[in-house]
Amino acid sequence: MDFDLTEEQEAIRKTAREFAEKEIRPVVSEYDQKEEFPWPIVKKLAELGFLGMIIPEKYGGTDAGNVALALTIMEVSRVCASTGVTLSVHNSLLSNPLLKFGTEEQKKKYLPKLASGEWIGAYALTESTAGSDAAALKTTAVKKGDRYVLNGSKVWITNAGVGEVIITFAVTDKEARRGHNITAFIFEKNFKGFNVGTHEKKLGIRAANTVELSYDDLEIPEENLLGEYNEGFKIAMDTLDGGRIGIASQACGILMGCLEESVKYAKERKQFGKPIAAFQPIQWMIAEMAMELDAAKLLTLRAAHLKDLGVRHTIEASMAKLFSSTACNKAANNAVQIFGGYGYTKEYPVERFYRDAKITELYEGTSEIQNIVISRAFLRD
Ligand code: CAA
Repeated sequence: MDFDLTEEQEAIRKTAREFAEKEIRPVVSEYDQKEEFPWPIVKKLAELGFLGMIIPEKYGGTDAGNVALALTIMEVSRVCASTGVTLSVHNSLLSNPLLKFGTEEQKKKYLPKLASGEWIGAYALTESTAGSDAAALKTTAVKKGDRYVLNGSKVWITNAGVGEVIITFAVTDKEARRGHNITAFIFEKNFKGFNVGTHEKKLGIRAANTVELSYDDLEIPEENLLGEYNEGFKIAMDTLDGGRIGIASQACGILMGCLEESVKYAKERKQFGKPIAAFQPIQWMIAEMAMELDAAKLLTLRAAHLKDLGVRHTIEASMAKLFSSTACNKAANNAVQIFGGYGYTKEYPVERFYRDAKITELYEGTSEIQNIVISRAFLRD
């Protein structure tokens, strides 16, 4: 068993860290407070090849792989979780299913633009009445001539207000059985009938773009159907297996930030005549953060490694997401505790970590859903 990163993976991790320190840290608080999408940062990430990390070189990507992508999302989220999820959704929820299920024409058309960052990608599954129960979605797609016409709406869609290309899911056969009645489609933002609605005002990841979408007779040419007709739900689930590694990585990044800030502050802050690091309750919190960070990273990188090997990783991705998001929320809570009143102000990054951490237990499947996915694998007859 080899726990070492390859030279290339380590070089990518180092580049991501240097980039996050130099380009993101000085402006992270400003973007968070203004709730503004960090376009200049995303453009620079594109120049470094971070928007095409799992795309083969023949389509313009760097083909760095899923372990390298996970490391990059960790390093970026250690400083800015909003940029972390932007990267994760673009790579894992759009490029990944296009690569796996797309036709050669679809790959040639979309992957080079996604790899270069000319186009940002999004994934639209969730609806107001179909969140955890994703198969209950109500958006419909009806074939008319050489196109499908979609009607319905989607909520909480990351990147869709700034994106050019979106994968979405709609019921194509009301008579077919649940889970086998949904088809996946790719569409572009300028397709007739597509509208971006409310930009959500959020507790955390405030610089990430999160919007409602409406499809009012949205016309999608039939060549933009992704994968098999009526088998889109499996594409949605398979894609989320990869997306959950991205969110686990985001949680690891936030946890890394919490640990580092807590250690620094605990050594500086003096009470009762000595640094608070000398007190056992603080030491225990630091030890727990360090131990759980290690475990979270190991679970996350294992899932990413399996994905690189092309092995099914549904359970491993859910374990990585559940463990990392739980540990990250505990760490963010304890980091604010270590900082005391200062941690409750915007003077220190732990206030933002505390707000950003929560979403990792909610999106791409709540913690309760990850528990279902994991336990089903053991309890199934
Ligand atoms: N890979 C491939 N196929 C899969 C699969 C996977 N990971 N998971 C399920 N399937 C298949 C099943 O095998 C089944 O096929 P068969 O009928 O041929 O056997 C079919 O899909 C239906 O599966 P289930 O019966 O398990 O479906 P279910 O309705 O019971 O749902 C669930 C399972 C795990 C609860 C699922 O609904 C789920 O993951 N819900 C959470 C949804 C979610 O994560 N949403 C996130 C939104 S995206 C987001 O947040 C992105 C963002 O913007 C950041």
